[in-house]
Amino acid sequence: MRRIFVVGPRLASFSIGLIGAILSRGVHGLSNGVAKVPVLGYNTWNFFQCNIDQDLIIDTANLMVSLGLQDAGYNYVNIDDCWAEKNRSSTGELQPDSVRFSRGMKNLTDQVHALGFKAGIYGDSGWFTCAGYPGSFEHEDQDAQTLFADWGFDYLKYDNCAIPFDTIIQQGTMGKYVPMSNALQNLATNGSLSEPVVFSLCQWGWSQVWLWGARLGHSWRTTGDISSQWSSIASIINFNSFITQATGFYGRNDMDMLQLGNGNMTFDEAKTHFTAWALMKSPLLIGTNLSAITNETLSILTNKEILAINQDSVEPDAVSPFRWGINPDWTSNSSFPAQYWSGPSENGTVFMLINTLDTPSDMFFNLTESPWIRAGRQYSVRDLWAHTDNGTAVRNFTATSVPSHGVVALLLNDSGEEPLGIYPQCAVWFSCSSENGTYVDG
Ligand SMILES: *[C@@H]1O[C@H](CO)[C@@H](O)[C@H](O)[C@H]1NC(C)=O
Ligand SMILES: *[C@@H]1O[C@H](CO)[C@@H](O)[C@H](O)[C@H]1NC(C)=O
Ligand SMILES: *[C@@H]1O[C@H](CO)[C@@H](O)[C@H](O)[C@H]1NC(C)=O
Ligand SMILES: *[C@@H]1O[C@H](CO)[C@@H](O)[C@H](O)[C@H]1NC(C)=O
Ligand SMILES: *[C@@H]1O[C@H](CO)[C@@H](O)[C@H](O)[C@H]1NC(C)=O
Ligand SMILES: *[C@@H]1O[C@H](CO)[C@@H](O)[C@H](O)[C@H]1NC(C)=O
Ligand SMILES: *[C@@H]1O[C@H](CO)[C@@H](O)[C@H](O)[C@H]1NC(C)=O
Ligand SMILES: *[C@@H]1O[C@H](CO)[C@@H](O)[C@H](O)[C@H]1NC(C)=O
Ligand SMILES: *[C@@H]1O[C@H](CO)[C@@H](O)[C@H](O)[C@H]1NC(C)=O
Ligand SMILES: *[C@@H]1O[C@H](CO)[C@@H](O)[C@H](O)[C@H]1NC(C)=O
Ligand SMILES: *[C@@H]1O[C@H](CO)[C@@H](O)[C@H](O)[C@H]1NC(C)=O
Ligand SMILES: *[C@@H]1O[C@H](CO)[C@@H](O)[C@H](O)[C@H]1NC(C)=O
Repeated sequence: MRRIFVVGPRLASFSIGLIGAILSRGVHGLSNGVAKVPVLGYNTWNFFQCNIDQDLIIDTANLMVSLGLQDAGYNYVNIDDCWAEKNRSSTGELQPDSVRFSRGMKNLTDQVHALGFKAGIYGDSGWFTCAGYPGSFEHEDQDAQTLFADWGFDYLKYDNCAIPFDTIIQQGTMGKYVPMSNALQNLATNGSLSEPVVFSLCQWGWSQVWLWGARLGHSWRTTGDISSQWSSIASIINFNSFITQATGFYGRNDMDMLQLGNGNMTFDEAKTHFTAWALMKSPLLIGTNLSAITNETLSILTNKEILAINQDSVEPDAVSPFRWGINPDWTSNSSFPAQYWSGPSENGTVFMLINTLDTPSDMFFNLTESPWIRAGRQYSVRDLWAHTDNGTAVRNFTATSVPSHGVVALLLNDSGEEPLGIYPQCAVWFSCSSENGTYVDG
């Protein structure tokens, strides 16, 4: 309830609907029944950009079934920019491209739904989308009606291009997204939809979106567009390492779509990309040409143990760094992000180790460096890439010869008291003391 006083005055110019909506949300955001856990699916942009049409969408959906991606949990097929006609209809409605989407969008979403998927669409909060198609500024209610009530889409990626001049918009970065959020909220409550729309804010640029994104949407982009190079992966991991607490059920940092299968990433780099996105609880939207996907890429995307943690419905938290490694803690360095991470999960404590160096390295940690580990206990170790049980860790764990830009993902489970007689009495605490007041080093 304290929240009312905190946000109330700042929201004075917004609609009652928004304030009501905020009051009904938990601290983790927009708990309106959809997207409690990250969205898994496909998005057309990274590989196809504007070269999209209805056949590509249906082929992609069919491939997601035949490649086993649907079985692995990828259940959204999302269309990105360039699907529309450049002009609205005479009555102001968005229109699908009459050649590339000649059968109409209702026909398309019906087919996508019939294949067992949800369907996503793209829009923009300004005058135009980033590729110059109509934006939804001052058309929010109408477009929400068209896209979701009339055409049956389930998900909206809402971009940030062609923002009206300050004198016209008279809103900040958050306010710009409020009219569409309200329109979606109205649709969900006025009987127009069977399920609320998943609202994905594509608010790139410096806007501290992680502070407010959860009030309006289920995910919010935190950085500019990803590219298919390791440098981009490392830089996005670095940026997001400082804002992991913003992520929870129904609201999360969106690290951008997956580049697996594109560009020249090595197998280890691709594994690290996928692991970091999954364990940091980002949405996972595949962005490659599924007709040409390799077995290697597919094997990464369908790692069930990693996906299970991304989709954990008991523990919402992202993994967070407990030690930066090569650099001092809390150092921002886009080429050398934090290396030692952990977080809670339904089945134990997750550890993620990233070798950011250009040579293979041994990676060592004391268990109690992680806040999710109990001192004085020993832990069974599960390797989530090797899919093996790797014995019991007492006090510490070393992963040997982690490849350059490679990753280790572990699940540790309490397996009882540690053996007697292990020294020092406290692995990492500086202020350990015996009952009689004698301090012990370490
Ligand atoms: C789109 O609208 C603009 C401005 O109204 C008009 O000049 C143009 O001819 C229209 N284009 C098409 C393809 O209808
Ligand atoms: C979509 O359009 C095609 C071609 O007009 C038609 O054969 C098909 O039945 C339609 N599908 C749905 C689900 O409406
Ligand atoms: C429901 O809300 C939407 C978005 O505000 C609006 O466009 C639509 O007309 C409303 N429909 C009904 C039946 O009230
Ligand atoms: C990928 O390409 C980039 C840019 O050309 C280059 O810097 C990088 O070394 C390449 N990576 C690999 C693994 O070949
Ligand atoms: C996607 O992959 C298929 C199969 O290799 C290929 O025929 C097609 O040209 C690719 N699409 C693009 C846009 O490169
Ligand atoms: C990929 O895996 C499938 C199924 O296991 C197999 O049939 C196919 O030969 C593999 N392709 C390559 C290039 O290894
Ligand atoms: C926890 O383990 C159960 C049983 O193996 C599994 O079904 C579930 O997906 C796991 N959850 C997570 C978050 O790994
Ligand atoms: C990033 O970290 C590496 C490794 O410690 C260091 O060599 C480099 O100077 C750092 N770069 C910046 C910009 O701090
Ligand atoms: C790791 O823990 C073991 C006890 O299991 C201990 O003997 C060893 O000294 C520890 N290693 C380091 C480097 O602290
Ligand atoms: C776990 O054990 C497997 C099988 O021996 C091995 O391949 C893998 O490297 C081990 N994982 C770690 C992190 O040491
Ligand atoms: C690990 O614990 C040992 C004491 O057992 C301590 O000497 C060492 O500094 C710790 N290392 C880290 C990285 O915390
Ligand atoms: C205090 O306790 C420690 C062990 O817990 C013992 O080694 C030490 O002798 C004790 N000191 C005194 C003054 O009793």
